[in-house]
Amino acid sequence: MNILLLGSGGREHAFAWKIVQSPECTRLFVAPGNAGTAEIAQNIPLAVTDFTGIHKFILDHAIDLVVVGPEEPLVKGLVDFLKSKLETAHLPIVGPTQLGATLEGSKDFSKRFMQRNGVPTAAYETFTADQIEAGLAYLEKQNLPIVLKADGLAAGKGVLICENLEEAKNSLKEMLLEAKFGDASSKVVVEEFLSGIELSVFVATDGKSYKILPEAKDYKRIGEGDTGLNTGGMGAVSPVIFATADFIKKVEERIVIPTIAGLEKEKIDYKGFLFIGLMNNNGEPSVIEYNVRMGDPETEAVLPRIQSDFLGLLKGIATETLAEYELVISPEYSTTVVMVSGGYPGSFEKGFPISLPTTVEKSVIFHAGTSRNSAGEPVNQGGRVIAVTGFGKDLHEALTNAFATVEKISWEKAYYRRDIGQDILKLIN
Ligand code: AMP
Ligand code: GLY
Repeated sequence: MNILLLGSGGREHAFAWKIVQSPECTRLFVAPGNAGTAEIAQNIPLAVTDFTGIHKFILDHAIDLVVVGPEEPLVKGLVDFLKSKLETAHLPIVGPTQLGATLEGSKDFSKRFMQRNGVPTAAYETFTADQIEAGLAYLEKQNLPIVLKADGLAAGKGVLICENLEEAKNSLKEMLLEAKFGDASSKVVVEEFLSGIELSVFVATDGKSYKILPEAKDYKRIGEGDTGLNTGGMGAVSPVIFATADFIKKVEERIVIPTIAGLEKEKIDYKGFLFIGLMNNNGEPSVIEYNVRMGDPETEAVLPRIQSDFLGLLKGIATETLAEYELVISPEYSTTVVMVSGGYPGSFEKGFPISLPTTVEKSVIFHAGTSRNSAGEPVNQGGRVIAVTGFGKDLHEALTNAFATVEKISWEKAYYRRDIGQDILKLIN
């Protein structure tokens, strides 16, 4: 098979690493890719939102399967675009249609979907600018803290947890009346605060069948002890100790099954990954959000635990034959540590050469925001630069292996959190 993978992050390097291990992979192209994907596949200088360029590339290179990594092209309708073209109308694609991607693209849409399909989630109301008075009155009747969410995509920044009423009212006004998050906050979801421990469950679906992939927990804040600004994710662990078999069974029965049934019933063509952000409140799961793709850096921890042929899973999703696929998961632990450019998530300097070890033990190095300079050396290009995943029979061993490799990687001003997984280790001990 000739495969085109879209994206350029650590998630896509992990996808590429798995895909090229498959005996069925003939050629893998990654658009646009990074310095890591360039080592194992062929990078193509095409933007993930260049729909006509992608269509032409598919025809010119006899592509058999397209795999979409990030949400942006999905929310913008890439799958619908390819389906509307004669030559690619029946091409197998991993990634939902625009309507399916609205589960991530609009919080109001996803809340209404959950409500219609009986999926447990926090109580909420949605308000627009002309409903500002009703919104402010609604806030007065709610318990604190209260959660305000910009309806649209806001690069992970559109959620505010307000501790007092005044802050909540001011934020609602800023979002609706002053476009605090631009167009994304022209609608605001006001939602009950859920307490508990967060984790993410990943589901592969062809729209009818599904397979539940290993769960993961990520570390969103830049600082140790979960302090400071939000980032795309600074680390991940899988499995998650408090996600017991009993808890995952509840997630399957109360969330996964009604969600997949809802997609089918509402004729939402969904072939791809569904990332379910969950709150575990005393063993009871509730959905915080849906994403229509795999998580990053969760993918770098989850994919290495998949022992069955990963390309087979992708093919099952895209050709509606997932029911026939046997998913085999390793009981081993994976932990991912993300190394970032100094200054991230604020501004940072780019172009520092990255020193990488030639061999590593019980770990794997994934590139994220890297490119090559004129001398051919890998350099830091984005905020999140390298994701190292360590393996072990338990969490402690996996962390030891991840950090041993992290310590062999360096560039000027590199930063990483040393406390990934420590919260869970404390729960065990
Ligand atoms: P989201 O963009 O929906 O993932 O929200 C970002 C983060 O805000 C989540 O990962 C949670 O940590 C937090 N959050 C969102 N909604 C709630 C809620 N209803 N209760 C508590 N925390 C929330
Ligand atoms: N790590 C969170 C995300 O991918 O959205």
